Amino acid sequence: MSPFLSQKTHSKLDISTPLIDWFEKNRRALPWRENRTLYRVWISEVMLQQTRVDTVIPYFHRFLNCFPDISALAKAKLQNVLKLWEGLGYYARARNLHRAARKVKEEFDGVIPDEPEAFRRLPGVGPYISAAVMSIACGHPIPVVDGNVLRGACRIFALENDISHPNTRKKLAELLTKQIPHDRPGDFNEAMMELGATICSPKSPDCTGCPLAHLCIAKRDGLISKLPVKTPKAPVPEYRVVVALIRDSVGRILIQKRPENGLLGGLWEFPGGKVETGETLPAALKRECREELGIKVEIGEEIATIRHAYTHFKIRLTAFSCTILDGDIRSTLPLQWATMEDIAALPFPKANHKLFPALRNE
Ligand code: ADE
Repeated sequence: MSPFLSQKTHSKLDISTPLIDWFEKNRRALPWRENRTLYRVWISEVMLQQTRVDTVIPYFHRFLNCFPDISALAKAKLQNVLKLWEGLGYYARARNLHRAARKVKEEFDGVIPDEPEAFRRLPGVGPYISAAVMSIACGHPIPVVDGNVLRGACRIFALENDISHPNTRKKLAELLTKQIPHDRPGDFNEAMMELGATICSPKSPDCTGCPLAHLCIAKRDGLISKLPVKTPKAPVPEYRVVVALIRDSVGRILIQKRPENGLLGGLWEFPGGKVETGETLPAALKRECREELGIKVEIGEEIATIRHAYTHFKIRLTAFSCTILDGDIRSTLPLQWATMEDIAALPFPKANHKLFPALRNE
């Protein structure tokens, strides 16, 4: 008899045994898989959300060195937490972790809740974090549905629904809820994620090394390259951005802190903004300095132009040396005259880091 089921009888598939057997033999040795505590698993999963394992490892070590437990994190200044997150992106994750640590201290006597309902009420804890942390660290049988799991599961069950659609996630969560073993929910979830990351890749899955190849309906039906179905993303726009390098009489540079909420919230940057349609770069920078700082500036030398890609847009950013012609600086945001040492100690977005070499040579 064919090892494949005769049709799409999802309920008859049992993926957990071969999957967990494979995981036991092939699991990667990762720092958060040692000395498992609820805190370490939580930090790692927050870092791993939207970010690759290789990128996360050094950040995880540095973070745990500085903030070894929830009480150290609750006591920390947000600036220091953001500094350790610098370059990892999606800074709301760091701000939420910090807020969550304070909430644990104030409302849970410093003990991280180990029940999904209470844990879900902490800032930044959505369905993914809750499922991953509660299953891996506390043994709750809640399936994780991240990008890697979506891809693998769509193939295993030959689900032809668009994975950008929330109903597809819901349907897969239902299928996986029937599969997740109650005695090893964390291993099951980690194995599904690991399978997607190391075997069931988007473009060239290694079906010969896959522990579920004999059960995979997409493989049986020749659908591997067609699944998962995904609506192509709209091309990301590129914005033109200008920033001002304004120095005081001792050579310090003016920097300002972004509002705490929103994109890159709480990070420092050079004053400036987006160039509007039809505007020249100097005109845009003069306008930004007038609107943001209440000063009239003369635009001097162009110091550098860099490019940076965010998830939903790209920027081309040009920095100009500027001198104040008129007005006293005022702003609704915190401002600081900073030396290069101050700048190195404060959290800045990656795009600003790309300007630093040119600043040092200025
Ligand atoms: N990606 C996110 N979390 C993971 C985990 N715990 N194991 C493997 N890959 C992951």
